[in-house]
Amino acid sequence: MTEMRPKQGKSVFIRTYGCQMNVYDSERMADLLKPIGYEAASAPEDADLVILNTCHIREKAAEKVYSELGRLKKAKARRAEAGGDMTIAVAGCVAQAEGAEISARAPVVDMVIGPQAYHRLPELLARDARSRGAVLETDFAVEEKFDRLADREADGPAAFVTVQEGCDKFCTFCVVPYTRGAEVSRPVDAIVGEARALAAQGVKEITLLGQNVNAWAGAAPAGDTSGASGRDDWKLGELCRHLAKIGGIERIRFTTSHPRDMDDGLIAALGEEPKLMPYLHLPVQAGSDGVLKAMNRGHTAEHYVRLIEKIRAARPDIAISGDFIVGFPGETNEDFEETLALVEAVGYASAYSFKYSRRPGTPGAAMRQQVAEAEKDDRLARLQALLERQRTAFNAAQIGRVLPVLFEKPGRHPGQLVGRSPYLQSVHAKAPDSMLGTIAPVRIEDVTPNALAGALIDEGEDAA
Ligand code: SAH
Ligand code: SF4
Ligand code: F3S
Repeated sequence: MTEMRPKQGKSVFIRTYGCQMNVYDSERMADLLKPIGYEAASAPEDADLVILNTCHIREKAAEKVYSELGRLKKAKARRAEAGGDMTIAVAGCVAQAEGAEISARAPVVDMVIGPQAYHRLPELLARDARSRGAVLETDFAVEEKFDRLADREADGPAAFVTVQEGCDKFCTFCVVPYTRGAEVSRPVDAIVGEARALAAQGVKEITLLGQNVNAWAGAAPAGDTSGASGRDDWKLGELCRHLAKIGGIERIRFTTSHPRDMDDGLIAALGEEPKLMPYLHLPVQAGSDGVLKAMNRGHTAEHYVRLIEKIRAARPDIAISGDFIVGFPGETNEDFEETLALVEAVGYASAYSFKYSRRPGTPGAAMRQQVAEAEKDDRLARLQALLERQRTAFNAAQIGRVLPVLFEKPGRHPGQLVGRSPYLQSVHAKAPDSMLGTIAPVRIEDVTPNALAGALIDEGEDAA
C-alpha cells in the first residue's frame, strides 16, 4: 500500500473566484488534500499544486482565468529552471463549461476538474501523467461528492454548509444550470452530521448554501414525528427548524433563494425560529414583467413585491437583499424605470447589480435587441446610486440600537474585534480576544461606508 502513504512536504495554493459555493468547494479541496500531504502555500509561486477554482457567470469572470494562467506559466517555468515542478489545475465552473478547450488554449494546464468531480482530486493527482496530456474530469458525480465530504475542520465561528447544488430554473441569461447541473439535495443526515461536527468545534453560525437553496427537499429522518410522510417531505423550513435544535448552533442563514421556491413553510420558520437570522437574499433581477418573462424567471414584479410583504408580515425586522441585471436583451428605458420603481417599493438593505453579460450557449446570448454597452453603463450607475442610498439609510438606522454580534476575527486596530450583526453587517468594537467566537450585545455608535462601529454593553445594561 505504498501509494496510500502521505507524500510529505507538498504545498497547494487555491485561488477562488465566484460565489460562496466556490468558497465552500475550495475549503473542501484543501481538506481532501491535507491527508495526502498538501499544506497551504502562501503564494502560487511557492506551490507544488496550484488550483484555480473558477467562475463562468459573466465574461469578465471567465477571462480572469486566462490572464492568471499566463502568469502561472511563467512561475511554472521559473520553478522548472530551479529543478522544481508545478501542477496546475483548473476547477470550478469554467472547467465545466469549457472542458478540454482550456488545455487547448492554455497547454500549461495539467488538470481540468468540474465542480461535481473535485472529490476525486487525490486519485487524479496519483495518476497524473503529463505525457498523456491534461486530465479531464467533468462528470456530474454530485451524490458521490456529497458522500465524500464528511470530515472537515472549522476555521472560525461561522461556516458554510452545502445543502443543495445545481439549478433547474434555466433563467435565459445564466450558465449555472449548465455548469452545476440539475438540482440535487443533500440528505438530512449528512447535513446534520456536518453541522454537529462544526458545532463541536465551536461553530456558532451556519450558512446553508445552494444555487437554489430553498428548492432543497429531503426525507425526514427516521422516527421524526412532525407529521410528514413520504420521500422528500421536508422542505428548507423543516430542515432549518431541525438544525436549530443542535446545541451550540446559535444562528442559521441560507442563500441563495429563488422567489418561486419561497414557500409558506419557510416563511413561517423565518417568523417563528429565532435562530434563523433576519436577513434574506432574494434576487429579483428586474422589475418589468416583460423582461422577467424573457428571462424565464417564472414570476411577475407584483408577485415578488407581495412575497416580500408576506415575509415582512411574518418577520417584521427582516433585511432584504437582492441581485439585479440591467440591459437584458430587449430592456427598454421604460422597463428599466420599473426596476427602479420595484427597488423603491421594496427597500433593500444590500444588493448586487450587474450589466447583462452575453454567455455562450444560453438563450439570452442569441436574442436580438442586445442593449448597447453605454446604455447598460448608464442604467447600472442609476440603479447603483439608488441601491447605495438604501443601504446607507439601512445602516444609519442602526445607530443607537443594540445588536448581538458574533465576533469572527481581530479588527484592524489592536484591541478591536470584527463580527457580524444579524443583518450580516460587519461590526467593529473594542473587545478582548477572549470574546472571539462569542455573541455579545454591541451598541451601534457610528457607520463607515462598509461597516458599523459600536461599543460592547454590559449584559446588565438595558437594551435600547
Ligand atoms: N442562484 C442564484 C445566483 C446565480 S448567479 C440566483 O438564482 O439568484 C448570481 C447573480 O449573477 C444572479 O443573481 C444574477 O444577478 C447575476 N448573473 C447571472 N448571469 C448573469 C449574466 N449573464 N450577466 C450578468 N449577470 C448575471
Ligand atoms: Fe441561474 Fe436562474 Fe438558476 Fe439562479 S435560478 S442559478 S439565476 S438559472
Ligand atoms: Fe460562478 Fe459557478 Fe458560482 S459560475 S457564481 S462559481 S456557481
